[in-house]
Amino acid sequence: MVNYRFPDGFKWGSATSAHQVEGDNHNDWTEWEKSSARIAQLKKEGKDPSDFISGKACNSYNRYEEDFDIAKKLNQNIHRFSIEWSRIEPEEGKFDFEAIKHYQRLVKALRDRGIEPMVTLWHFTNPIWFAEKGGWLNTKAPEYFTRYVKYVVDNLKDRVGLWITFNEAFTVYAGYTKLSAIWPSRGRGVLNFLRMRRNITRAHILAYREIKKVYSMSHNVMVGITENNVYVPDTKNFWATWLRRLYRKLRNFYFFDRNTPHYDFIGLNYYHISRKPFFGEKGELVQRHEFMKEMNWEIYPEGIYHVLKDLSKFKKPIFITENGIADRTDQLREKFIKGHLYWVWKAIQDGVDVRGYLYWSLLDNFEWAHGFGPRFGLVEINYATLERKIRPSAYEYAKICLTNQLETD
Ligand code: BGC
Repeated sequence: MVNYRFPDGFKWGSATSAHQVEGDNHNDWTEWEKSSARIAQLKKEGKDPSDFISGKACNSYNRYEEDFDIAKKLNQNIHRFSIEWSRIEPEEGKFDFEAIKHYQRLVKALRDRGIEPMVTLWHFTNPIWFAEKGGWLNTKAPEYFTRYVKYVVDNLKDRVGLWITFNEAFTVYAGYTKLSAIWPSRGRGVLNFLRMRRNITRAHILAYREIKKVYSMSHNVMVGITENNVYVPDTKNFWATWLRRLYRKLRNFYFFDRNTPHYDFIGLNYYHISRKPFFGEKGELVQRHEFMKEMNWEIYPEGIYHVLKDLSKFKKPIFITENGIADRTDQLREKFIKGHLYWVWKAIQDGVDVRGYLYWSLLDNFEWAHGFGPRFGLVEINYATLERKIRPSAYEYAKICLTNQLETD
């Protein structure tokens, strides 16, 4: 038996996002889910459109206490969730006090259970009024976003010390809405992709400054941003390796490279290896690995080590804000978590300042364009009855959370 101990004070938890778990949202995603074009497309693919409508999701908007009881039972001491902008500001400039009171209760519920809240301010969804104004292509988008952020932070500041402005905005969101357009998209194309990224960068910087202002030095607050990073392997071919490293740099570091004064920590979401650009595949230095079939992603635990090492050059603390597997049978989840945690531990030994690990996700949830198919949860959801059932692997993860160490044979 070998024990890999994590640093004292290391945070252990899990993550969710509003639209994926709350239920009954009314935003640009729900509009898209129900649009005739989307339904026709799904039917053409032979799919049942009702599996792709978020609807009640996990009904966590009402059941969050039950969910946090489970997180506590599983020895978690941090939880990442997101605030649904469309609930807070359903109409432009009109803030809903009931909605903010809900999130105040939610934060309190976490604190009462000894769980630190990590709050994401934007996780892929927008109010309808904002989308109708062109969304992130509108040059005023940064100001709209910052006004919402100020309202939220003013009302939650006493109990929250960890904020994330954007989730995967530059990679996954910009790519899926503006390049491949497999997500709700208005205004597709490379120019719009770049325009969107520029506006989101500005929005982040404005929001970062605003949050710092709200706390006005009196509190300890850390404001970060979360990005999705993939590991891209080198090949024996010099040019292929050059191209792949360039791709890795542009994809993984776009934001972090240019904006170092404007984030206090990095949120890393890591799921898989990516072999793009495809050129050079024959001489690849990393063998093929097992696939996460529900997402068609190639699992490569060592990749998280390389990604962490790469990110350490920015000299900021790192939280792993997402890492997880869609595995309805729960056959691979324990191995997946332990495999990745070994490489996180190794990165820490090699000097990377990793502060916490948040498994994606606490619950099975609405997986965006994939609908309710993929099952990422430590907890299984029966979508007909909304019953929660803790999966066996969750108890294995709970042991790690409790002892602050990974034990392997
Ligand atoms: C997102 C989550 C999503 C997960 C699995 C990340 O890209 O932040 O919302 O559920 O990956 O696909």
